[in-house]
Amino acid sequence: MVKVTDFSTLRTDFPTLRPDDAPIYFDSACMTLRPDSVIAAIQNYYHEHPSCGGRSVHRYAMAVTRKVMESRRKLAAFINAPHHDELIFTKNATQSLNQIAKGLSWNKGDVVLTSDREHNSNLVPWLQLEREHGVDHRVVPSRDDNTFDTEIFEQMCAEAGADLKVVSLPQVGNLDGVEFPIKEACKITHDHGGLMVVDAAQSAPHMPVDVQSLGVDFIAFSLHKMLGPSGMGALWGRKELLDDLRTISAGGDTVLWSRYTDFEWSQPPHKFEGGLDNYAGILGSAAAIDYLNELDLDAIHQHEVNLNKIVSAGVRDLDGIEIIGPDDAAQRGGICSMLIHDQDAHDLAIILDEAGSCMVRSGMHCVHSWFLDKGYEEGSLRASFYFYNTEEEAKAFVDIFGEIHASLF
Ligand SMILES: Cc1ncc(COP(=O)(O)O)c(C=O)c1O
Repeated sequence: MVKVTDFSTLRTDFPTLRPDDAPIYFDSACMTLRPDSVIAAIQNYYHEHPSCGGRSVHRYAMAVTRKVMESRRKLAAFINAPHHDELIFTKNATQSLNQIAKGLSWNKGDVVLTSDREHNSNLVPWLQLEREHGVDHRVVPSRDDNTFDTEIFEQMCAEAGADLKVVSLPQVGNLDGVEFPIKEACKITHDHGGLMVVDAAQSAPHMPVDVQSLGVDFIAFSLHKMLGPSGMGALWGRKELLDDLRTISAGGDTVLWSRYTDFEWSQPPHKFEGGLDNYAGILGSAAAIDYLNELDLDAIHQHEVNLNKIVSAGVRDLDGIEIIGPDDAAQRGGICSMLIHDQDAHDLAIILDEAGSCMVRSGMHCVHSWFLDKGYEEGSLRASFYFYNTEEEAKAFVDIFGEIHASLF
């Protein structure tokens, strides 16, 4: 199938982008917009068979059960998982990462390595294990330009020795859009006897993610960052690891049977999906994957880099503005995150929205650890792009930003 590489005609698929005076939406790293087909799939669930999957056997329930299975297959295929039963629906990447962290068994002194610019979702679960179980969480320092230092990483794996249990890294950082060399990190992790967990929240929407080619053990991602419904995420893990992983959601549909004194777990994925699921969300996610499957993901990445080059070139020389990460926008994918010295990033974001009709994210983007370590307590202003954004929007952003900057600085 020939995939779409020219995204200009797709804006009409998105209700909020259809009006001529649509605001500029540069906050897709937080949550993407949704096309009509995803909204229709959600509505269709409530209109046609608003029922529970996997339990009742009437026609509504069977329709939901079939569609959930279809959705699981689509998501599994999207990341090239060897088997669809390795794909678990969650409510977000945070829940996926918590399921991994809290589902593994731990001994005091087991070492977990993360980077120094993690989203709280890939930091706090490990810190919690450190606080509650004596796990030894260590931070791999990045180079000065925020790129990953493979040499130091390898050295830290070696230092951890037999205690190395988990390495958990993002594939792309939400702080600055910088990509991590996951395949290489994964090989090093395995050579030192650790498990490789990948936070793919910022990569899965923007580039092909192939769990088999990367060689990783677990990945977590967010469907709401890839055109899917809000409150939908997923977790993939290798079958033999999922078999041993302790569920953090014991209850309905997680067991084959129970007596007053005993029970038997269901096989993955059901063991991890306790209680009634977000069926509308799961079905909407399948529609999101269908939509993404039509698009060339490499072309999405390239399109975002082009937009980032325009924005970066337009803001980098302004007084008080400092782009986080490497100078070259190509190394920052679809994210341009700016430190705003001597001004409040939230104030600027509000002015950009109200005076310039441009929506960006401001603050610490849940990467408090990095900002507080560096003493940047005001956070940053982050513009993040997706395939539905245009060069005209990037140029308009630069003009609006320049005008506001001239009046404030
Ligand atoms: C890199 C990264 N990891 C994890 C998360 C958490 O994702 P979710 O909101 O789906 O839990 C985010 C959200 O912004 C993120 O950017």
